[in-house]
Amino acid sequence: MPVTVVVGTQWGDEGKGKLTDLFAQEMDVVVRYQGGHNAGHTIVVAGETFALQLVPSGILYPHITPVIGNGVVVEPATLFAELDMLGSRGVDTSKLLISGNAHVIMPYHLELDKVTERYLGKNSLGTTKRGIGPAYADKASRVGIRLQDLLDPKIFREKLDAVLKEKNAILAKVYNRLPLDSHEIVDLYLGDYAPRLAGLIGDTTSFLHQQLSQGKDILAEGAQATFLDLDHGTYPYVTSSNPTAGGACVGTGIGPRDITRIVGIAKAYVTRVGSGPFPTEVDGEVADILVERGNEFGTNTGRRRRPGWFDCVMARQAVRINSLSEIALTKLDVLDALESVKVCTGYRVGNDITDDVPYHQSTLHKVEPVYFELEGWKTDISKLTCLEEIPKQAKEYVQFLEDQVGVPVSLVGVGPGREQFVHFTK
Ligand code: GDP
Ligand code: IMO
Ligand code: MG
Repeated sequence: MPVTVVVGTQWGDEGKGKLTDLFAQEMDVVVRYQGGHNAGHTIVVAGETFALQLVPSGILYPHITPVIGNGVVVEPATLFAELDMLGSRGVDTSKLLISGNAHVIMPYHLELDKVTERYLGKNSLGTTKRGIGPAYADKASRVGIRLQDLLDPKIFREKLDAVLKEKNAILAKVYNRLPLDSHEIVDLYLGDYAPRLAGLIGDTTSFLHQQLSQGKDILAEGAQATFLDLDHGTYPYVTSSNPTAGGACVGTGIGPRDITRIVGIAKAYVTRVGSGPFPTEVDGEVADILVERGNEFGTNTGRRRRPGWFDCVMARQAVRINSLSEIALTKLDVLDALESVKVCTGYRVGNDITDDVPYHQSTLHKVEPVYFELEGWKTDISKLTCLEEIPKQAKEYVQFLEDQVGVPVSLVGVGPGREQFVHFTK
């Protein structure tokens, strides 16, 4: 089973970090394929919490080689802070390999993300303000700076001078901000960052193919999620990369036929952080229960996540777009306290009911979810370890989702800890 992909099926924070860590026990390599430090992936081991933004979630195992693929955008200061945090907690990070083709987040990307959000006012996207969109925009415009450029001071200076002229003009003339100083950037990136990065940068695509030829197992860890995908998400309320499974090929250089397993990570309900349509969003008492019990505050930005019921329409679309082989359903324990649990099985659009995500975004904003209500289980499932112990109503809930979505649920999360899951088979 050479390459497994872990992909978010909703709007992020489904528990990709936890599942990546779990699956990494049986892998040799874990590679991040897109996104940057907008991600916040949490792993809880023996009561200790690790929140990762850039470093792959397999890092805690000495047998894993962690790789940051070409599709990722890297902010060096965050990367170093993360490596230092892990080092201070006894985690060996010396095997980390980063693609020289990965793009670098520059100070003007951070600045532009902040000012454009401010200028959008009530139409702001609610980005993480990490410079992700501007960095990917530069990549597409072919004025981005790649990690390999940091290893060649002449090239770095030339590229920076060319691009900074334009960025400073935009910052000063459009947004009324102070221009950024090229010397300061050169000192920071070539003086501070480059020497430390030099030992980490390499040809990750060749490395991954060597691993494949040796029969090693690779896990590709997605950040963000299907409905935050630049092409398949709820545009413009999306991130600027392709978290969907296809992105794993582009963002690593692994060919599609090497992928044998694609695990969609889904929360037993849904959350979204930032702006954008969310048909099954709830408020009031149920929302407070989901947010409090699920601790639904951004790992990264601390923002309160918007909660809602499980949406099978979205999940079916995620199955198709990602070719999911299975779903890992997380946070089932969060629903323990509810008298009943609702599941969206379709959308009412005017007088019609549809099973599919509407093609037109303006329709999606207006759909009304059609709910099926199931009995709650009102039992603490967080300490359960096998399927036989799962209450009947909880089992029925998961089986209902399987039937609606059309792929098996292979395991169910019952708590944040690495060991808190149950293999789920009918
Ligand atoms: P990611 O971005 O997809 O990796 O997810 P996050 O780490 O941002 O958010 C998921 C949160 O849920 C984290 O705080 C996890 O520790 C936690 N978590 C993961 N799985 C479970 C689960 O099965 N039950 C509970 N209660 N928490 C979980
Ligand atoms: P993980 O990997 C949840 C959201 C932001 C915003 C939109 C665009 O932890 O699941 P960006 O900064 O990427 O330009 O923001 O995407 N977003 C996430 N939401 N989890 C994430 O990552 C996210 N990364 C970005 O809130 O709505
Ligand atoms: Mg997260």
